[in-house]
Amino acid sequence: MTMRQTWEAMRKYWPQYEWANVGAMIRNMSKPPALCEDDFSGRLVVITGATGGIGYHTAHYYAARGARLLTVNRSAEKSEALCASLRRDFRADCDYILADLSLLENMHRVGQALAALDEPIDVLIHNAGLYVSKRQVTGDGLEMNFVVHFLAPFVINHLLKEKLKRQGRGRILFVSSEGYRFAVWGLHFDDLQWEKSRYSGLKAYGAAKLAQILTMHILAEELAPSGVTVNAMHPGMVRTNTGHENSALYRYFKKNILDRLSQSAELSAQALYYLGVSPALEGVTGRFFHFTTEEELAPPAQDREAAARLWEISLNLGRLA
Ligand SMILES: NC(=O)c1ccc[n+]([C@@H]2O[C@H](COP(=O)([O-])OP(=O)(O)OC[C@H]3O[C@@H](n4cnc5c(N)ncnc54)[C@H](OP(=O)(O)O)[C@@H]3O)[C@@H](O)[C@H]2O)c1
Repeated sequence: MTMRQTWEAMRKYWPQYEWANVGAMIRNMSKPPALCEDDFSGRLVVITGATGGIGYHTAHYYAARGARLLTVNRSAEKSEALCASLRRDFRADCDYILADLSLLENMHRVGQALAALDEPIDVLIHNAGLYVSKRQVTGDGLEMNFVVHFLAPFVINHLLKEKLKRQGRGRILFVSSEGYRFAVWGLHFDDLQWEKSRYSGLKAYGAAKLAQILTMHILAEELAPSGVTVNAMHPGMVRTNTGHENSALYRYFKKNILDRLSQSAELSAQALYYLGVSPALEGVTGRFFHFTTEEELAPPAQDREAAARLWEISLNLGRLA
């Protein structure tokens, strides 16, 4: 972003900031997620990135309450181990689709496979994610955060939405992050792939999560008449494997500082179950939750003009146009 663009973004967003909302976010960090005790027997739940961390705990949480699991992962060995554990502990139905969600061809394959299912998807959780402190480029030449956090869910949802509309029910959940706030002045539309700007792991992560939230608004509006809902959530600051591919210094910092301040991913699973199953969320769409507490989004994440612009760009980038 040039100085002039930053100045324009500041003039646009600064007056809209409600500082009380930042206070609410800080208070929500210590508020435990609401609990849903309903059974979910026989219902189909799709989770991406269920071989570790939040996705893994969430798959177990749903399976323990009767759900059937279809997960989308990049490791066959870890997927087998996950399904073996769900079958052994809960006699759950478990299957998986192998896919590297950093690759366009793989996202298309996943979207098409889900669209071809001849049964309803009750909950679809876009969870796969990563934290990379150095810029990485995917096999398609795009920036890794942008692709895994944003473009993969965008493509999959696009290919799936006609099926979801026909179903007339279903909930899409984005495992987002309060980290969207790192993109303080919005998206850099002239450099979405971080080719010109100085790369920062936190800012690139934040921008990708912001992109996810922006397009959520448009998808939620499109699906609303069908009864399908789309929401995003912050899963807490929880101890997982995230960032394991970064430098030894980062891993030391994570293990000795971040992990000590973090909570158990079981809480994220509890929140994702509540948001996916609770009758209290029936018809609620286009919202952002900190665990299960609704929050008002920061101004760049409410920018419908930016959302529409990003939507058009992403149709091309995702080879959907
Ligand atoms: N942990 C936190 O405090 C926190 C806070 C806010 C938001 N989040 C979000 O929560 C989500 C889950 O993160 P986590 O903390 O549970 O991280 P994690 O333990 O590293 O798990 C990430 C999952 O995503 C999968 N994944 C990564 N890249 C993939 C790719 N290219 N294709 C397919 N699968 C891929 C991983 O597969 P492998 O097992 O093969 O590596 C793993 O299953 C992410 O979206 C993250 O941004 C986490």
